[in-house]
Amino acid sequence: MAGLGEKKVLISDSISKICQETLTSAGFTVDYRPGISKEDLIACIKDYDGLIVRSGTKVTKEVLEAGAGRLKAVGRAGTGVDNIDIPVASEKGIAVINTPSGNSISAAEHTCAMILATARNIPQGHFSVKNGKWERSKFMGVEVQGKTLAIIGLGRIGREVATRMQSFGMKTIGFDPLVPADEAAKFGVEWMETANIWPLADFITVHTPLIPATKGLLNDTSFGQCKKGVRVVNVARGGIIDEAALVRALQSGQCGGAALDVYSTEPPTSNGLEDLVKEEKVVCTPHLGASTVEAQVKVAEEVANEFIAMAEGRTVNGL
Ligand code: NAD
Ligand code: MLT
Repeated sequence: MAGLGEKKVLISDSISKICQETLTSAGFTVDYRPGISKEDLIACIKDYDGLIVRSGTKVTKEVLEAGAGRLKAVGRAGTGVDNIDIPVASEKGIAVINTPSGNSISAAEHTCAMILATARNIPQGHFSVKNGKWERSKFMGVEVQGKTLAIIGLGRIGREVATRMQSFGMKTIGFDPLVPADEAAKFGVEWMETANIWPLADFITVHTPLIPATKGLLNDTSFGQCKKGVRVVNVARGGIIDEAALVRALQSGQCGGAALDVYSTEPPTSNGLEDLVKEEKVVCTPHLGASTVEAQVKVAEEVANEFIAMAEGRTVNGL
């Protein structure tokens, strides 16, 4: 967006108003149209220099081709850019910018809440009481103190989860191909290969991107190598834990509980996911990892500041 003439930006998902305010103060013209239809987006995108999205808008080849010429940047108020066709954006010279750190703490806190929720059957107990029942023995839980938490992916979120769960007395082990063992040791994680992790873990939480190497990272084979009753958590991306394998592991008792914030199809109402979320031992939330007031303000401010930097010809956090 360097040398950008009109600095006209469309925000097409629900994003904190601080984004629009920051851009407007810097001389941008901003149209805020959360929930715009795919057809309307394709029809109007040619009139904008920038597009800002969260995860709702699918920035497909069609959208990018319709915007190419004028559109110079797509900003993602958040981490994952799975909803943006990056190869096509690169081909068209459209920069893709994300805000990878603004929601890390919120996602880490949500993960910790999910670990505890599955350990103590909190949502199941909650619904039981709401339905007039008093089922104390049915919802017997486990302590996390003294248990081993395996963290797959030791980036921004994985390491924040590690330090928080250490304060609950958990032993933390983990794997990341790009984080060496001495670096992992600095935040209290004992680095090991996944083959060595599976038999040791009482809880497994995944914090990787969804890429070919991580798709189905937890599958029938890896579940088979785990302790019986292992609990699993996914606040990263749906599909890192193979969902069909998870159903089988829950039904056989190999998996003792799962806490899921993300699904390979969102909402999880098709492709067998409706059966997964109905499993009694599954605790689920509707992709809420980044849904805090604080995280949404941070990502909104960060994406706006990246656009301003780009318009001023300064270096940006592009992908
Ligand atoms: P990050 O890039 O900081 O860390 C990801 C780590 O995964 C990296 O260190 C990388 O080396 C590692 N990794 C890559 N391939 C791996 C493999 N095969 N095995 C093990 N590790 C591997 O990312 P982050 O900010 O920590 O985000 C982690 C995930 O959480 C992403 O998928 C992101 O989109 C997701 N996320 C979800 C929410 C939510 O609302 N649920 C919010 C924020 C982020
Ligand atoms: C992300 O990748 O940042 C998360 O999925 C959070 C979100 O924007 O919903």
